[in-house]
Amino acid sequence: MDLKDRDRWNEKYKQGWRTSLNATLLRFYQLASKGKALDIACGSGDNSIFLAEKGFSVDAFDISDEAIKIANALALKRGVKVNLLMSDIESFPFKGEYYDLIINFYFLDRNSFSKITASLKQGGLLIFETYNEKHLLSKPSFNRSYLLREGELREVFKELEIVYYEEASNITTLVAKKSSTFS
Ligand SMILES: C[S@@+](CC[C@H](N)C(=O)[O-])C[C@H]1O[C@@H](n2cnc3c(N)ncnc32)[C@H](O)[C@@H]1O
Repeated sequence: MDLKDRDRWNEKYKQGWRTSLNATLLRFYQLASKGKALDIACGSGDNSIFLAEKGFSVDAFDISDEAIKIANALALKRGVKVNLLMSDIESFPFKGEYYDLIINFYFLDRNSFSKITASLKQGGLLIFETYNEKHLLSKPSFNRSYLLREGELREVFKELEIVYYEEASNITTLVAKKSSTFS
């Protein structure tokens, strides 16, 4: 586990930083079968809780224990169950062909791309959205290794059926399905 990352994010959440419900999720979640969902780097949990309210059985993890605490409190308040885990993505136990829906918002770990594909059930949906390199135009100090290159998501997930792909200004969005004949 990268303790520096964890400390940095814990500090941000202690200072009041919060995540919010993602508009792309609202637009596309209904394309997924209502089964098991995984929220990667879930932050303070709004997207996980939304999916739980819609009837998904949700696993969610984040490196920050502060974020997980906030998400747990929010889930309790909203009266839904989310399986929240404090975990670095490196040690999260991705299961093969397990999830009907995987979401990855505003977080980039290139080592997990193949694990994400493997962890989708056949017919499962991936919604991935984060900043791309154009983000440097407005935030030159942003760490380039956390930014997507042009066309990167489409290339990386080319084995999946692309349902929607957009590189709008500084944000790249991919919605893709694992075909039921994926091998
Ligand atoms: C910009 S936030 C995005 C949160 C949420 N996905 C959203 O879009 O609302 C990035 C999140 O990644 C988490 N994170 C950073 N490094 C991580 C790692 N190695 N493993 C798991 N989570 C990590 C942070 O704690 C933070 O909550």
